[in-house]
Amino acid sequence: PFDVELSRTGRTVHVAADRTILDAVEEAGVRVLSSCRQGVCGTCEIPVLAGEIDHRDAILTPEDKARSASMMVCVSRAAAGCSRLTLDL
Ligand code: FES
Repeated sequence: PFDVELSRTGRTVHVAADRTILDAVEEAGVRVLSSCRQGVCGTCEIPVLAGEIDHRDAILTPEDKARSASMMVCVSRAAAGCSRLTLDL
């Protein structure tokens, strides 16, 4: 479980261990474009402003993942030991 801060509104959304960031953010009433919800289409890519990411998608290259400028919120999560992400959302 971890928290995601949405930089555009200053809101913070909690993401339980069994939920995706996409689900949690949508439940909070924030609209995010998505399609496959499986980490393969790239539609839900969101810029990352702070935090360590556990990238679980099949879109980003290893270089992209190391840079962590963005993430696919349908499958990727905060890395172990990181309790808070800030997204440009
Ligand atoms: Fe397709 Fe997230 S919705 S990668």
